[in-house]
Amino acid sequence: MAVINNTKNLIEFFMRNYVKDVKIAVDMTVGNGFDSKNILEILKPEKLYCFDIQQEALDNSKKLLEQYSNYELILENHKNFDKFVKENIDFAIYNLGYLPKGDKFITTNAIDVEESLKKLLEKLNSKGTIFITFYIGHLSGQMESLELSKYLESLNQKEYTILKFTFENQKIIHLMWL
Ligand SMILES: C[S@@+](CC[C@H](N)C(=O)[O-])C[C@H]1O[C@@H](n2cnc3c(N)ncnc32)[C@H](O)[C@@H]1O
Repeated sequence: MAVINNTKNLIEFFMRNYVKDVKIAVDMTVGNGFDSKNILEILKPEKLYCFDIQQEALDNSKKLLEQYSNYELILENHKNFDKFVKENIDFAIYNLGYLPKGDKFITTNAIDVEESLKKLLEKLNSKGTIFITFYIGHLSGQMESLELSKYLESLNQKEYTILKFTFENQKIIHLMWL
């Protein structure tokens, strides 16, 4: 049985055991490409769309994903993902915050995430899944989590199931919704 002691292996656990039949996947915050690599390896989608607002992130991801061809790297805010993704979506992932080893001031924000989520829910197939990881070890991450929480809590329980996980005793606390 895999040890689950951070969001990365929690997400991997769900990907391997729960998420099935993914044709179209979207990585809303590609960063250095690790989540995208997991999606391509584990879920094997027909196509993965990857968004980031920093060219540095896309360059890093391109190197990491060189063995794959069924993905597209797009330099664009995720709130505009619908200009590029025309198909319905089976799986999407957000890993919020700033680029590891990058500029800490270039970070995700609740307004853009919420705008993208509203559009995403319109395009998500009925058995589709979304993972969102928040880092609430710093103030802007806490604000982002509180604001998005209000939106997620407002969604109709007859249409969506929203699970929230947290590691209560970790210093850099991660939260995940799906
Ligand atoms: C925590 S990192 C993502 C880590 C990544 N998933 C990985 O596996 O390495 C967050 C990323 O979100 C990007 N980002 C911030 N705001 C964004 C936005 N509005 N749209 C798309 N990407 C954004 C940042 O540039 C950063 O690369």
